[in-house]
Formats: sequence, C-alpha cells, structure tokens
Amino acid sequence: MHFALPMLIMGAALGVRGAACRSCHAAIVDSFAMTGMGRSISVPRVEAGDRLTHTVGGMTKAMAFAVGSGNAGKSYVWRLGDSLFQSPLAWYREKGRWDLAPGYERDTNPNFYRPIVEECLTCHTGGVRTIAGTQSRYPFAGAPPAIGCERCHGEGEAHAARPSRGNIVNPVRLAPKLRDSVCESCHLGGEARIPNPGRAFADFVPGMALEEVFSVYVSGDAAQRVTGHVEQMASARCASDPKLWCGSCHDPHRQPAATDRPRYYRERCVQCHAVMDHETKRGGDCAACHMPKAQAHDGGHTAFTDHRIRLKGESRPGPQLRAWRKGPFEERGLALAYLTVSEKRGSLADLQEAVRRLNPLLAGKPDRAMLTAAGMLALRQNKARQAVEWLRQVLSEEPESARNHANLAAAFLAAGDRERAATEAREAMRIEPLLEEPYGILAEAEPAKAAEWRALYRQRARR
Ligand code: HEC
Ligand code: HEC
Ligand code: HEC
Ligand code: HEC
Ligand code: HEC
Ligand code: HEC
Ligand code: HEC
Repeated sequence: MHFALPMLIMGAALGVRGAACRSCHAAIVDSFAMTGMGRSISVPRVEAGDRLTHTVGGMTKAMAFAVGSGNAGKSYVWRLGDSLFQSPLAWYREKGRWDLAPGYERDTNPNFYRPIVEECLTCHTGGVRTIAGTQSRYPFAGAPPAIGCERCHGEGEAHAARPSRGNIVNPVRLAPKLRDSVCESCHLGGEARIPNPGRAFADFVPGMALEEVFSVYVSGDAAQRVTGHVEQMASARCASDPKLWCGSCHDPHRQPAATDRPRYYRERCVQCHAVMDHETKRGGDCAACHMPKAQAHDGGHTAFTDHRIRLKGESRPGPQLRAWRKGPFEERGLALAYLTVSEKRGSLADLQEAVRRLNPLLAGKPDRAMLTAAGMLALRQNKARQAVEWLRQVLSEEPESARNHANLAAAFLAAGDRERAATEAREAMRIEPLLEEPYGILAEAEPAKAAEWRALYRQRARR
C-alpha cells in the first residue's frame, strides 16, 4: 500500500507458531500476541468495527482478511479463487474513519484489482509465498498467519524439541549487522528493495545479513516514511554509541500500555543520558519533546514517531540513491533501484540514470531481473525487436511465469508480430487467469475478437 507495485516480481511454508513455544515461554507468547506485530493479520469481524464487505464504484466485495493491527490502521484483502487483491478502502484509527487506502488517494477511478504481491505479505505475516510464476496467487485458504516468533528467532522446531541456546537465534547475541538485519528485513523500506539474482524477499531468515538476500537503496529522505525508522535512527546522534539499536528502546514481545509509555521510554533514555534539569517539563517525557509524532506521507494520514532524535528544525536530506549497506551486487542493484524509483516518481532523470547504469552491465552475464529491466526499457524506447530478444532470454530461463509471458507478449505486439503476441498472452493467461494485461494484448492482437477477450476478463474477474 505504501509501496508502488514493483514491476519486477521475484519468486510455502507456514512457520512455527507461538503454540510450539508456549509450553515453556508462556508469558512471552501471551504478551507478544497483544502487540501490533502479534496481531498483524486478522479476519474481519463486525465486533472489531470491520466492514465485512466493501463497496466502491458500484462494486461490492467480501473481505477475506485485514492487514495491520489497527494500531495505526488496517488495509483489507479480498480473494477470487486463489488470487488476492487489495481493497481501495482502509480504516484509519487516529481519524477514526474509513477512507481510500494509502496509494489510492490520487487514483481517479479506484478499483478492487490491485494484486497483493508477495513482498507485502512478507513484511506483514508469518511468511507466505505466491504459487511459483504468479504475481498474486497463493497456496493457502483463509487468512495467512500473523507475524510469529520465527520471524525474529528463525526455525524453532529443533529447539522446541531439545531446548538449548545453540539451536535458536537470539537477535541480541548476533553481530550488530546480523542483529539489525532482523528488524531491517521489514522496517527498512527505503526507496527500492532489490533482491539478489535468483532470490526472493521471503528467503531472508534471522541470522543472515540482509545483503545475502536483498539490498535496500535509500536516498536519505526518510523523514516521514512508514518504514523509515531504521534510516531515521541511524541519523540520530544517539547512534554514535555503537550499542544503540532498535532493542535499546523496544521489547518486541511487549508494547507498553499508553499510560506507561512516558516512563517506559524515559528509562531507556537514561540508560545512556544523565538525568537533566530541563527534563522536568512535560512530566519528564523525553520522547514527547525529542521524538515528536509526524505525518507519514506514505502512511495514509497517520502520525508516526520521528526516530531522528534531534534538536529543533534540522534536516539532513540527500538526493541520490545509495545502498543502505555494502552488498555483493551493488551496481546491478543500483541500476534496478533507479528503475523502480523512476516508475514510482514518474521521473525521467531517474530513468536515464537506470539506463546509464544498466547498459554496461548487460555486456557481462545479466540475470533475469536485469534482462527483464533491459527488455522493458527497450520497449519504452520503441526498440521492440531488441526487447523481444532480451525478454525471450528471460522466458527461456524461467518458462513457467505469467509475468515473463505477458512481458514478451507486449514486446511481440510492439514489434508487429501479432500471432506470437497472442500465443504468449495465452500462456500468461493459463498460468494466472486473473492477470489483466494478457487480455488487453489479445484484444489488440486479434481485433476481430477484441470484445470477446475483454468480456472474458470481466467475467473471470467478476468485474
Ligand atoms: C520444552 C521447553 C521449550 C520450548 C517448547 C521452547 N523453548 Fe525456548 N528455551 C527453553 C529453555 C530451557 C531455554 C534456555 C536455554 C539455555 O539457557 O540454555 C530457552 C531459550 C530460548 C531463547 C533464548 C536463547 C538465547 O540465546 O538467549 C529463545 C530466543 C527461545 N528459547 C525461543 C523459543 C521459541 C521461538 C520457541 C518456539 C519455537 C521455543 N523457544 C520453544 C525452553 C523451550
Ligand atoms: C516480519 C516483519 C517484521 C520484522 C522481522 C520485525 N517487524 Fe516490527 N513490525 C512489523 C510490522 C508489519 C509492524 C506493524 C504491525 C501492525 O501494527 O500491524 C511492526 C511493528 C513494530 C513496532 C510497533 C509496536 C508493535 O508491536 O506493533 C515495534 C516497536 C517494532 N515493530 C519493532 C521491531 C523490532 C525491534 C524488530 C527487530 C528485533 C522488528 N520489529 C522486526 C514487521 C516486522
Ligand atoms: C518493507 C516491508 C513492508 C511492506 C512491503 C509493506 N509494509 Fe505495511 N508496514 C510495514 C511496517 C514495518 C509497518 C509498521 C510501521 C509503523 O508502525 O510505524 C507497516 C504498517 C502498515 C499498516 C498500519 C498497521 C498498523 O496499524 O500499525 C498497514 C495497514 C499496512 N502497513 C499495510 C500494508 C499493505 C497492504 C502492504 C502491501 C500492499 C504493505 N503494508 C507493504 C512494513 C511493510
Ligand atoms: C520482532 C522480533 C521478535 C519476535 C517476533 C519475537 N521475539 Fe523473542 N526476542 C526478540 C529479541 C530482540 C530478543 C532479545 C531481547 C533482549 O534480551 O533484549 C528476544 C528474546 C527472546 C527470548 C529470550 C529472552 C527472554 O526474554 O526470555 C525468548 C525466550 C523469546 N525471545 C521467545 C520468543 C517467542 C516465544 C516468540 C513468539 C511468541 C518471540 N520471542 C517473538 C525478538 C523477537
Ligand atoms: C545507547 C545509548 C543511548 C540511548 C538509549 C539514547 N541516547 Fe541519546 N544520545 C546518545 C549519544 C552517545 C549521543 C551523542 C552525545 C554527543 O554527541 O555528545 C546522544 C545524543 C542525544 C541528543 C542530542 C541530539 C543532537 O542532535 O545533538 C538528544 C536530544 C538525545 N540523545 C535524546 C535521547 C532520548 C530522548 C532518548 C530516549 C528516547 C535517548 N537519547 C536514548 C546515546 C543514547
Ligand atoms: C531511543 C529510543 C528508540 C529507539 C532506539 C528506537 N525507537 Fe522506535 N519508538 C520509540 C518511541 C519513544 C516510540 C513511540 C512509542 C509510543 O508513542 O507508543 C517508538 C515507536 C516505534 C514504532 C511505532 C510506530 C511509530 O512510529 O510511532 C515503531 C514501528 C518503531 N518505533 C520501530 C523502531 C525500529 C525499527 C527501531 C530501530 C531502527 C526503533 N524503533 C528504535 C523509541 C525508540
Ligand atoms: C519539555 C521538552 C523536553 C523534555 C521533556 C526533555 N527535553 Fe531534552 N531538550 C529539550 C530542548 C528544547 C533541548 C535543547 C536545549 C538547548 O538548545 O539548549 C534539549 C536538549 C537535550 C539534549 C542535548 C543538549 C544537552 O544538554 O546535552 C539531550 C541529550 C537531551 N535533551 C536529552 C533529554 C532526555 C534524556 C530527556 C528525558 C530524561 C529530555 N531530554 C527531556 C527539550 C526537552
């Protein structure tokens, strides 16, 4: 929702739930269940104030589950067969009302057909994967599990059977980079997150460095992003103490009660800061003055806590993209990151930067994501034949992918080869019948049957 849908979509198992840990860690399991993370997914209920059906533009859909605890807000997901789509309506707690979901504000004709891609559920659930080769088909019925113990402690089966410190990850005992990676895997949104060749976001497990799976590209402008806590924290002067990390102030198993928050966080500050004269104001609530609430521009009218911890009025922006941490595929990642950003911002300068960086890399051994990027860029530059070549190569490496067939179909169509365009579009449709694009391509490739193709999509999508 607060992310543009990525053009390059990479990549089922449900992890161990708290139940497997409860016999020995009952207090932690129970208090974690009350946190936002422990309630990150729920099934809509009238008693919870949910609307079980959403109506927008004369269309009504029944909601399958909600994303978000409601601490800030909730987004809703509906299901058609095994495909998941987002509702354009969301609930905002602070405002106490329903409104368009983040990302739909400027949509003049909001509809129910934005696919729920894997990245979204990787951050918000216990971990689920799409059916291979599809963009939003999932192998589970009902709702996915909420974020669970294994997202920070890794696989726990062996430990539950024979408890020892040696067979479970404890983030605090990891080296700083690996420790921080655990929280960063979900709390560092950046401008673009680019998986390494052949990797999916969901491949990350605690104990790894983020860069073993993907790199995050930032611009230094994290002031008010929902997933900007990590970047903000790093720019705080407090971070000159190498001991500072998310866990210095947060116990992920427990959210302090609203009335207890000033005291709770003050205790965290005075671990490092001598008690000061000036703090007696505002009841000694350090965070109220030094970490004020601010509107997140991508969070849909919700206030988030400013983690830059600073004196008044400073800002430290930075224009260009850079990798959050050094990774093995930095140049490639940067090229793909500029492409993602150019789509998000609709910016020509970023697009040019992407092209400038990608071209020299294509002479080497480009992987699928790079070939796809090259193909889509060629298509935009009206070099359809060239696009066909790149995209054919992608498809030959990963034939069972709706996205790859659809991309190649678009390239054939642009190159004037309607017959091959239609063949590829049909393949895409076979793998993911609710992907809309192939129907449009078929309508253009077979003008005599255009109305039929459009009707078939509407029928299948119940539109
Ligand atoms: C049968 C009892 C039992 C079960 C079930 C169990 N644990 Fe433990 N756990 C322990 C014991 C005992 C320790 C302390 C081990 C030690 O200090 O040597 C421990 C320690 C831990 C630690 C701290 C490790 C460290 O390095 O400090 C974590 C984290 C942990 N457990 C997580 C889990 C998770 C997650 C689950 C569920 C998947 C789980 N435990 C299931 C008994 C259990
Ligand atoms: C699997 C992804 C994921 C990981 C890993 C993760 N978080 Fe979160 N975190 C979230 C999401 C999503 C929310 C918002 C949950 C909601 O309210 O729906 C959140 C919320 C929070 C909150 C607000 C209070 C609460 O409990 O909801 C804190 C504090 C927090 N995370 C700290 C951390 C820290 C510290 C770490 C690392 C030790 C961490 N998180 C790791 C996804 C994650
Ligand atoms: C990079 C990981 C990431 C991705 C991708 C992501 N989110 Fe989030 N989202 C978060 C984190 C972390 C928070 C909590 C931030 C906070 O509390 O400040 C959050 C907050 C939210 C909230 C508010 C929850 C609450 O009440 O605190 C909603 C609703 C939400 N996201 C929905 C979505 C949806 C829907 C998608 C995909 C279409 C999505 N997000 C994609 C990480 C992510
Ligand atoms: C968002 C990340 C996150 C999640 C989710 C999480 N933990 Fe933890 N856990 C941590 C961190 C960080 C520590 C280290 C806390 C410290 O010592 O500062 C920890 C420590 C522990 C410990 C050892 C220290 C102690 O407090 O006893 C146990 C046991 C544990 N967790 C169990 C669980 C269980 C069971 C679950 C699932 C209900 C769970 N954790 C979910 C991050 C998490
Ligand atoms: C792990 C230790 C640690 C913790 C915890 C911590 N700080 Fe800091 N903080 C520091 C260090 C180190 C500095 C830098 C001091 C310096 O440069 O003289 C600093 C600097 C600051 C500054 C000066 C900022 C500036 O721009 O000059 C403020 C304000 C501050 N901290 C407030 C807080 C508050 C409020 C909390 C609790 C919410 C907190 N700190 C928690 C270590 C910490
Ligand atoms: C110096 C203390 C401190 C550190 C370190 C810290 N936080 Fe926070 N965090 C706070 C305070 C204070 C709040 C506001 C809590 C409240 O109002 O309930 C907060 C709130 C949050 C929230 C809830 C949404 C919001 O913005 O209000 C999330 C999510 C969060 N922090 C994530 C993180 C992550 C991730 C890290 C590590 C990169 C981190 N925090 C490090 C003090 C800290
Ligand atoms: C009423 C608001 C308020 C509260 C409460 C407050 N501060 Fe401050 N703090 C300020 C302001 C304003 C300044 C800047 C003072 C200046 O410019 O001389 C400041 C300056 C600081 C500095 C940097 C200057 C220095 O003296 O080193 C630190 C560190 C700091 N505060 C930490 C804290 C901590 C820790 C707490 C809680 C124990 C706290 N503050 C509570 C408003 C507050």
